[in-house]
Amino acid sequence: MQSKIRKIMNNKSKQELLGYQSHSIQKNLKYFKPAKTSTTATFAEEIRNTLQQSKKSINPKFFYDDTGSKIFDEICSLPEYYPYNAETEILEKIEQKLLPYLSDEFHLVELGSGSSVKTRLLIDVLFKSQKYLQYFPIDISDILDQSAKNLCADYQNLTVTGVVDTFENGLDFIENYDDKPNLITFLGSSFGNFDRSEGMLFLKKINTLMKSNDLFLIGLDLKKDGYILHNAYNDTKNTTAKFNLNVLQRINNELDANFNLKHFEHHAVYNEEKNRIEMYLRSLSEQFVTIQKSDISITLSKNELIHTENSHKFSINQIESSLRNSNFEKVEMWFDSKNYFTLVLAKKI
Ligand SMILES: C[S@@+](CC[C@H](N)C(=O)[O-])C[C@H]1O[C@@H](n2cnc3c(N)ncnc32)[C@H](O)[C@@H]1O
Repeated sequence: MQSKIRKIMNNKSKQELLGYQSHSIQKNLKYFKPAKTSTTATFAEEIRNTLQQSKKSINPKFFYDDTGSKIFDEICSLPEYYPYNAETEILEKIEQKLLPYLSDEFHLVELGSGSSVKTRLLIDVLFKSQKYLQYFPIDISDILDQSAKNLCADYQNLTVTGVVDTFENGLDFIENYDDKPNLITFLGSSFGNFDRSEGMLFLKKINTLMKSNDLFLIGLDLKKDGYILHNAYNDTKNTTAKFNLNVLQRINNELDANFNLKHFEHHAVYNEEKNRIEMYLRSLSEQFVTIQKSDISITLSKNELIHTENSHKFSINQIESSLRNSNFEKVEMWFDSKNYFTLVLAKKI
């Protein structure tokens, strides 16, 4: 009892420390979110820093306002965007393979949960071995609100505690939440958005907060022919272009900026040497843009690029050594029928 109270107090002070507001939606659904003023201030500051560099960039986490999250779901239904189908194929076949590792009552923690559609396949597996499930989605996007409501409507014995914040803050939130083991998932190859050193730090952070009986399930996109990759990020419907350009619209809306979207184009290329897709916004003319809430004006020359995302593709050796170097033991590795994608189950060494 004492330790339970201590944990509740710890979590409460953690929520206060992180400046969260609690949103209790219904009996089995609540989420925590930083105050709007603080997220706008962080957004304004990060944009000020990255758009004032000689090589301009925008962090990909800013893609996901309401519109960006909806467009990402459209991308997932494109025939060219194979990662979604490949990962779903693996998840659909995973039940018998995963169940032997789920003997206790697990919590499900998901980094970058988005619309939580693929998550349902994991929830179904967990409900095969336990009656109740607590799900902790962590996502920077407000999409979490609707995704969580949809799940609660469909699963009676599910309790959702969401964190609308960055992966890192969400992980701090769930650390030492209680004594139950966590199945921590990181799907969609979102890990590929990190640069190598950031990725290693992130894996180490996850590893450090894991309990000895926690499991980690990560979805990773594998190296493959450049033309398949090129097509996946340059779809014929221009949905990825719309997704990329929307980040400028978001800056206009939230930071009082005056980007003219017609003066930019989507540019996605496969960098073979670095094994990654690089996404940019190319300025089509020389232009001057003011971002009021960041308190800056920037000049872009014709053809200047704003870097918006990297999406790394991995070899099996790279995956195994990254896991080893961040103190994980690989438990199982599953593939789709085309060997485009892998899901790796790992535990703490
Ligand atoms: C590529 S989508 C993947 C969504 C889903 N997991 C899937 O596999 O289809 C990335 C998700 O992570 C969220 N996200 C991106 N960067 C984030 C960050 N730094 N912290 C928290 N969430 C982030 C986005 O809002 C989005 O929902």
